[in-house]
Amino acid sequence: MDIPERHEHDVLVIGAGGAGLRAAIAAIEAGASVGLVGKSLLGKAHTVMAEGGMAAALGNNRPEDDWRVHFRDTMRGGKGLCDWRMAEAHAREAPDRVRELEAWGALFDRAEDGRMNQRPFGGHTYARLAHVGDRTGLELIRTLQDHAVHEGADVFMECTVFRLVMVDGRVAGALAYWRPTGEFVLFRARTVILATGGLGKAWKVTSNSWECTGDGVALAYEAGAELMGMEFVQFHPTGMVWPPSVRGTLVTEGVRGEGGVLTNSEGERFMFRYVPEMFEGDYAESEAEADRWVEGDRVANRRPPELLTRDVVAKAIVAEVEAGRGSPHGGVFLDISRKRSPEYIKAKLPSMYHQFRELAAVDITTDAMEVGPTTHYAMGGVRVDPETATTCVPGLYAAGEVAAGLHGGNRLGGNSLSDLIVFGQRAGADAAAAARDLELADIDEGELEAATSAALAPFGRTDGRNPFHLQEELQQIMQDKVGIARTEAALREALADVQRLSGALDMCSIPGGRAFNPGWHTWLDLHAMLTVSEAVVRSALERRESRGAHTRIDYPDSDPALGRTNLLLRCSEGRMTTATQPVSEPPDELRQLIEEGV
Ligand code: FUM
Repeated sequence: MDIPERHEHDVLVIGAGGAGLRAAIAAIEAGASVGLVGKSLLGKAHTVMAEGGMAAALGNNRPEDDWRVHFRDTMRGGKGLCDWRMAEAHAREAPDRVRELEAWGALFDRAEDGRMNQRPFGGHTYARLAHVGDRTGLELIRTLQDHAVHEGADVFMECTVFRLVMVDGRVAGALAYWRPTGEFVLFRARTVILATGGLGKAWKVTSNSWECTGDGVALAYEAGAELMGMEFVQFHPTGMVWPPSVRGTLVTEGVRGEGGVLTNSEGERFMFRYVPEMFEGDYAESEAEADRWVEGDRVANRRPPELLTRDVVAKAIVAEVEAGRGSPHGGVFLDISRKRSPEYIKAKLPSMYHQFRELAAVDITTDAMEVGPTTHYAMGGVRVDPETATTCVPGLYAAGEVAAGLHGGNRLGGNSLSDLIVFGQRAGADAAAAARDLELADIDEGELEAATSAALAPFGRTDGRNPFHLQEELQQIMQDKVGIARTEAALREALADVQRLSGALDMCSIPGGRAFNPGWHTWLDLHAMLTVSEAVVRSALERRESRGAHTRIDYPDSDPALGRTNLLLRCSEGRMTTATQPVSEPPDELRQLIEEGV
């Protein structure tokens, strides 16, 4: 099939969320022509779901906070598996990237002294998150989108890439289709950056929006890249649980950062019970001190237990529900009304106020919310060089959630937005520099023909399964068998299920034509969803221990022998194979920092 629409750029960026936009800006600044392809409408990226803020050691709230403390918190949060070079670059560069956003027009919340305000979040030693109420991701996208368009990015929206085009082992472009018309479009490029975000749509209860089907991870894997840390999927402790139509929708950690407390059906502030060593059993005094800490008292040392890392809080919530102390709809209660005034809540958490009022008929200025864990973020993804964000496939880069390394076994809240802008910038700059020495490759028309014919195959069938049913089944399997608490038996079942669904995918049939056909879009997305699901299950089976976001009921303890080992996945003769990779050791001065504190 001929593909009449073709475009050429120095750098092609796939994904128009925070990482993609920041990469596009950096590549343009470095003199490259840039094509920016987004699956959704420009501005509607999943980045907007990082609501509570972006972590950067600006030191506005506490002058003692600097990159070293942020580095240490990130490394400790990642439970031994973070790449120290990424964590160092991230902690050092995040403040400049945040100030740059401000120079480009982002309107951050201010403290009384006029400096950018910073909010507490789980696992961060100090209040560190620059924020815009509870709409920080939205403001980041708005700012970057304006700037990228102003700088001259060539934007293609509602356009989905389904294949990377390779020439002699090097990436040479991408094949995509327009979502409204179904017509194919070819992008030729000297270098390609994947910035496609996450994969949470493979689960039933998720904060992720429809775009998050693991596209970039699957594209990279099929092109020969390595995947790393795929077993580490973050379940955010607080998603909505009621009504069913909005189950999983994010309830920002900013609610807890502003003083919100978690209680069970007995009215108990249960998180104290899960970390008795931190509070010496003296909850009343601890609670008073934790309240003072949230309010910025510099002498108070005990942080609220609700601000422990997400893995700890999510597991505690599940334990409360399983013990019969849950809320009526299977969650627990999150209450900000008993700590803050209605005016304060509406000013600092306007989206939460509206979300609960409109979707659940709950006024959070007077009543508690019902919340429970929701699939939120993939710490694993494409293995990249920590300096440049290159993958092992020549010409291919990955930045943001699609890439692995920075967050190890568990990401701290607020570190995703800063990840996007730090590594988006690095990927864009390096991809533009590399593109200068490369020619556009001649693409084999036969391969394009084969790829487009394969993409249209289900239109020729009449008796196959409906892709929507397959998607629903996959989401239920991942929810039930690959959730917060995992076992060998359930994971083995999940693997067999995913393999069965992959077979069924090849036999799906789709009625109608290519224009405006969501059944076809879902069928194409399912290729990626099944690839990433298999990757998560295989890695989860392989890691026989509990660490960070990966909990094995049958191996409840962390295994020191695995504490410095990452799991890799590669495609070998059409099969997914696993390998191990030692985590690189930081130099002595950084190791000391991690172990002893600053
Ligand atoms: O809870 C939140 O606002 C999410 C932030 C994040 O995942 O970084």
